[in-house]
Amino acid sequence: MHAPDTSPRQASTVHAPGTPPSDVLSPANFFEASPIPTFVIDTAHVVTHMNQACATVLGVQAKDVIGTRTLGQIFYGHDRPILADLVVDGATDSALNMLYQGHARPSQQNPEALEAEHFFPHMGAQGRWLYFTASALCDGEGRLVGAIETLLDITDRKRVEHELVRAQEALNAQLALAHDQLVQNEKLASIGQLAAGVAHEINNPIGYIFSNFGTLEKYLADLFEMLTAYESAEGAVADASTRAQLKALRERIELEFLKEDIPSLMRESREGIVRVRKIVQDLKDFSHVDATQEWQFAALVQCIDSTVNVVNNEIKYKADVVREYVDIPDVECHASEINQVIMNLLVNAAQAIGPERGTITIRNGADDKHVWFEIADTGSGIEKASLARIFDPFYTTKPVGKGTGLGLSISYGIVQKHHGQIHVQSEVGKGTRFRVELPIVQPVEADAAATRPA
Ligand SMILES: Nc1ncnc2c1ncn2[C@@H]1O[C@H](COP(=O)(O)OP(=O)(O)O)[C@@H](O)[C@H]1O
Ligand SMILES: [Mg+2]
Repeated sequence: MHAPDTSPRQASTVHAPGTPPSDVLSPANFFEASPIPTFVIDTAHVVTHMNQACATVLGVQAKDVIGTRTLGQIFYGHDRPILADLVVDGATDSALNMLYQGHARPSQQNPEALEAEHFFPHMGAQGRWLYFTASALCDGEGRLVGAIETLLDITDRKRVEHELVRAQEALNAQLALAHDQLVQNEKLASIGQLAAGVAHEINNPIGYIFSNFGTLEKYLADLFEMLTAYESAEGAVADASTRAQLKALRERIELEFLKEDIPSLMRESREGIVRVRKIVQDLKDFSHVDATQEWQFAALVQCIDSTVNVVNNEIKYKADVVREYVDIPDVECHASEINQVIMNLLVNAAQAIGPERGTITIRNGADDKHVWFEIADTGSGIEKASLARIFDPFYTTKPVGKGTGLGLSISYGIVQKHHGQIHVQSEVGKGTRFRVELPIVQPVEADAAATRPA
């Protein structure tokens, strides 16, 4: 425990009340001691005062400037009025605007004074932003004798402002991009759902048409057998006019032709129905409605084939599809997303092929950790300068309505999410080859591993 200190605290210096400070401060002392860069000009625009702070900012010796009119040169690198000159001359708004491009205005503290901001590229290593104020100096009778101007270096503030604006712009761009991707994902998801819904609805009627068709074919075969029996019995009909009637009827309906044509009509129709069933199945596979958005092992070749069928309409008039498949293991993926990548690459390949019929070659392969597939076209190829940009969102060389510039950027995102890689090789006039490589098994996420119970 300390004893309480009762003695009065001792000030280090004490002025006796009533005695003035030892030396009286003159205005010149204030001026010189002020850390705010300041100078004064007279009505002839000649510099009469300049403090040390100002000389330092301007990188000059005060004594070299005082008595001259060189401040225009020092500030701007050429002869022109400075703000103080404008105050002395009672500058008009239009002169102010012309010289400072709207960055000069009456001071908020003193409406008689002017303030402005300007960038001086000649000052310092990388130029300086200065904020300056100038106001009129009057003598005891209110007569104008000159102007005083102060400077403030606001380079750091301006830089921070600039960085903030840039950061905000970048953020806005990112937001816009994220928004577009969301919209696009949403759109694709709803198209997928629509396709799946339609496929499901068609599936049922196609099912019974297909099964009835089998029955119908069997019935027809029975009927034809019966008909043949009747035909061979025809000779045994005693009544000549009945026989003639039967013959005329047979000729009118061209029975021989029907016997040939009905089975071939049935065969073609059956093929049609089989194709519809396949398309429905492909749509279902493609949209993967049955599958939840969970990682699952899928057969890449099946993904490719069902997607080729879905976009066949885009391809079949332009190119032959050549498949060079080898056996590869199933790959852990979101199959509907991988289908989307395949679809984008296929449609791009088809669209790159000109009026002359081309070829789209699909290859695949695997090593012990990865599988890959390649989609190569004999299309236009991609210029070197464009190659770096094709994965950028909204980069497209296609006319409005045909290209959105999103296909490759979305595909890139999907492949990244799968911890895979997408590469492109292209030669103008020869064609382009996209190669997608995916890990067979997805790496265990570090954070998922951390939270996994031991
Ligand atoms: N197989 C290809 N052959 C030639 N150019 C291609 C090919 N694939 C993509 N490109 C180029 O990349 C651009 C971007 O492709 P993408 O992102 O799918 O957008 P979009 O197809 O809507 O233009 C295309 O506009 C095209 O210039
Ligand atoms: Mg595309």
